[in-house]
Amino acid sequence: MIILKAEKVTAGYTSEVDILHGVDIQIQEGQIVSIIGPNGAGKSTLLKTIFGLLKPRGGTIAFEEEDITGLKPDKIARKGLSYVPQVDNVFPSLTIQENLEMGAFIRRDDYSGRLEEIYELFPALKGKRNQKAGQLSGGQRQMVAMGRALMLDPRVLLLDEPSAGLAPIIVSDIFEKIVDINRTGVSMMIVEQNAREALKMANHGYVLAMGRNVLDDSGKALLENEEVGRLYLGG
Ligand SMILES: Nc1ncnc2c1ncn2[C@@H]1O[C@H](COP(=O)(O)OP(=O)(O)OP(=O)(O)O)[C@@H](O)[C@H]1O
Ligand SMILES: [Mg+2]
Repeated sequence: MIILKAEKVTAGYTSEVDILHGVDIQIQEGQIVSIIGPNGAGKSTLLKTIFGLLKPRGGTIAFEEEDITGLKPDKIARKGLSYVPQVDNVFPSLTIQENLEMGAFIRRDDYSGRLEEIYELFPALKGKRNQKAGQLSGGQRQMVAMGRALMLDPRVLLLDEPSAGLAPIIVSDIFEKIVDINRTGVSMMIVEQNAREALKMANHGYVLAMGRNVLDDSGKALLENEEVGRLYLGG
């Protein structure tokens, strides 16, 4: 089943200028999709539009075969789609535990079991629950941000540049966590500058440039594509 499908999406920030010019993208249930492309390609804009932070001017977005085009983020989150932004994705003055609880704020049920599952997924956070997120390392902060997004037990997780600004050794930790999360049954859409690594773990990859689809194929095929290598993977 296709769990998330965006078709011919156009969107922009000001009334005159479109940033996305009819982008198509989809995720098969259970898969990891990676999106690569140069700075300013519209990758973050695409995730924001799918999550309802920007209203598309054209095109459609369907989640689990239901039309969610134009819905607000809280409605979309309740349906089972979660999003981790590229920057400022934790509350620095709140503790780890409080950050995770913020992620559950629309839950009416007892989420204490889910909280423990998140700590099992990120053992590095477990002993630090009462530490402020602002005092953590970059890698740990990224884990808090992902943990917060997972509190609603989403079916799909959108991740914008999860490895940005992290030391190489921490980058591989974060990618391992992404695979762990995927193994729990969460389908993923990941935007990454670290394109080679992102394609390695992806079932399917998309190249975006200037607000348009350039190419999409299996992660493996894109890695082996000479032109993709030269233009987008640094040779
Ligand atoms: N809040 C905003 N208001 C107006 N224009 C914006 C805003 N955010 C992004 N843009 C513009 O939209 C275009 C696409 O930006 P976007 O952030 O989606 O690119 P990106 O592919 O995520 O790039 P990066 O790799 O640098 O994160 C850029 O020209 C950018 O200047
Ligand atoms: Mg971006």
